[in-house]
Amino acid sequence: MLQLSRFCALSTLRNTILTKNAFKIRNFTSLTKIKHQNSLLAVSRRLVNNNVGNDTKKSQKKVGYWLATCSGMVFGAVVLGGVTRLTESGLSMVTWKLLGEKLPRTEQEWQQEFAKYQQYPEFKMKNHNMTLNEFKLIWYMEYAHRQWGRLIGAVFLIPGTYLWIKNHLSKPMKVRVVIFGALIAAQGLLGWYMVKSGLEDRFQAQSDVPRVSQYRLASHLGLAFVLYSLLLWSTLDHLLPAETIQIASGAIKKASRGFRMFAHSTKGLIFLTAISGAFVAGLDAGLVYNSFPKMADRWIPEDVMAFKPKLMNFTENPTTVQFDHRILGTSTLGLITVLWWLSRKRVLPRRAYYAANVLILMGYLQVALGITTLLTYVPVPVAASHQSGSLLLLSTAIWLTHELKKLPK
Ligand code: HEM
Repeated sequence: MLQLSRFCALSTLRNTILTKNAFKIRNFTSLTKIKHQNSLLAVSRRLVNNNVGNDTKKSQKKVGYWLATCSGMVFGAVVLGGVTRLTESGLSMVTWKLLGEKLPRTEQEWQQEFAKYQQYPEFKMKNHNMTLNEFKLIWYMEYAHRQWGRLIGAVFLIPGTYLWIKNHLSKPMKVRVVIFGALIAAQGLLGWYMVKSGLEDRFQAQSDVPRVSQYRLASHLGLAFVLYSLLLWSTLDHLLPAETIQIASGAIKKASRGFRMFAHSTKGLIFLTAISGAFVAGLDAGLVYNSFPKMADRWIPEDVMAFKPKLMNFTENPTTVQFDHRILGTSTLGLITVLWWLSRKRVLPRRAYYAANVLILMGYLQVALGITTLLTYVPVPVAASHQSGSLLLLSTAIWLTHELKKLPK
């Protein structure tokens, strides 16, 4: 209100001065007075502009912090989801309600919840010796993951509505916010769709392991990565805008733009490797061929094309899925290394050099974690770090490409 009245007062002053000037010019009166009043006009204009600028900056910051909270919370959900899967807790809650399941309070309510779980394949085929206390542990894990997801919805919706109503969101940002909202809702629904695939009566053979579909797991993880990436990109737009640099030579400009293309491709490959990792996780393919770099003394394992039709091997055969993940992981590291080496030779904004350094560090750490996960038969802390590492690696690639956003055309 205060800003608006100040803006109105300044506009009135500006109009008064303009009218007076016109009148005085018509009457050929003192030119010096006009000069003085024109400088007053310039001051008033500057004041108006500064006020609008400050308002925009304040809005930018508010929206930026909100987006940063949302993306941080999505990161947290991915970590929590990974631990939920690795501790085999994901199938403990056999019902889903949009606004939240009831937390059992009495011993009798816990017994009822446990009895429900006992109707499903995971208990019947794998966990028939589980005690109520063990059940409570996996149930709380899944409950925490679901409640965290709901909290993301609330943190997105409530401050988001406030920022929208108070006009802190620009027009393009409003479009993005609608997309983010749709993705958050889709992520929740997809989570339940994934869990349902592990509750179905589709596990017949003695050797079958009741678990969720690897396709749905990869989609759930993939969508979380997409949502996180978009939120992070918008956060950077608001809190850490890309720097502009001047490049005079056409050839140097072209080389820098080529570097940007290469950085985007590397980011794409990191994403693809992460999705292939979800297939490894979904099929428990980290528990076959626990050697590196060879797979049981062979570079290409014998059963890599064992399934028919052949195409099925890429998403259903644990050997092929792990083999592909190794190839993709090491190729990604190769690309990151070349990208870093190229960054030494290109003219880039200052922070892009830092981002390239962090990227190569994260790349080597991620591959080391992947190999350790494999060699040590997928222990929960190492595998969970490998999963979080993939999101940190992707974040660094997003930061790097964001820094390159304003390279001269
Ligand atoms: C840039 C490189 C890499 C990225 C971005 C990446 C990413 C991922 C992701 C996202 C997962 C899924 C985790 C989950 O959902 O719990 C995964 C799983 C896995 N990755 Fe990687 N990975 C990379 C390299 C490697 C390498 C080189 C190896 C070993 C040779 C490896 C071994 C594994 C194993 C064994 C799993 C399964 C762990 C589990 O069951 O939870 N990764 N990876």
